[in-house]
Amino acid sequence: MSKTENQPDWDKIAEKFDLWLPQLAPVGEAILEKLGAKSGDRIIDLGSGTGEPALSLARKMTGQVTITGIDSADGMVNVAQQKVIDEKLQGIEFRTMSAEQIRFEDNQFDRALCRFGVMLFDDPLKGLKEMRRVLKPNGYFSLAVWGAAETMLTLYWTYEAFKNRIDEDLYPPLAKVTSLGAPHTMETLLKKAGFHEFTIEPITFHYKFKSFDAYWDTVEASDILKMQYDALPDEQKPEIRNEVSRFARNFIKDGTLTIPHEYLLVSGKK
Ligand SMILES: C[S@@+](CC[C@H](N)C(=O)[O-])C[C@H]1O[C@@H](n2cnc3c(N)ncnc32)[C@H](O)[C@@H]1O
Repeated sequence: MSKTENQPDWDKIAEKFDLWLPQLAPVGEAILEKLGAKSGDRIIDLGSGTGEPALSLARKMTGQVTITGIDSADGMVNVAQQKVIDEKLQGIEFRTMSAEQIRFEDNQFDRALCRFGVMLFDDPLKGLKEMRRVLKPNGYFSLAVWGAAETMLTLYWTYEAFKNRIDEDLYPPLAKVTSLGAPHTMETLLKKAGFHEFTIEPITFHYKFKSFDAYWDTVEASDILKMQYDALPDEQKPEIRNEVSRFARNFIKDGTLTIPHEYLLVSGKK
């Protein structure tokens, strides 16, 4: 990972990533709806993290589909695989593998999905080419990438709060996370990867928390910004919370913090 791509250390935060799953659920549902899995399908989830939305699909279609989730972080794979064991799920497994080097033969999968993974790959184009390679001819894909920087509001707020307080090399990864957010960027990349039939749909969904405190508790407990906090002098740490709470103030409605985020739902076929 280059220094300007300050993603969380996925291995280290794996156990805590699930704190975000309830917020991301609507995106998983939209991906699965577009994916349109059918009985008998073999499916791959790229950058599968702690297992969602592949696990939801496995629960819904037990005995009908075979799913392989791949992720480059061992820690995330272990958390996902533990859920398979705990729930005694059949037909789903998670394996440590880079999306840029998928260890499967060509034309193996009927469908591919990916939630908020592609823009985080070291080489998104290579990952998409690999996804295409392992899809069968006419195989379908459905994936989500974050929208433009100013629509990824929570990360935008923290970026603004940390900016100028820590070394530039450690800024929150807003540029990387939103790097595929402009529709033409994704369109160009998909074409370069060899896809010609696809749609790109901007969708707004909302993070919902019962208060600002509940939101901030999740930020802190998930260690999603640990790298940035560790770089901050102690006396400045409360300032970050205060600054972000000022941004959030406008998004409290009827006692609930409701924060819009935009993503691109990208689906198509090989
Ligand atoms: C934001 S998380 C999303 C996890 C899961 N898809 C979800 O939506 O809950 C991004 C995941 O992409 C994985 N990742 C990043 N770069 C990768 C790569 N080059 N190959 C495979 N996985 C990668 C990370 O380890 C992390 O688990």
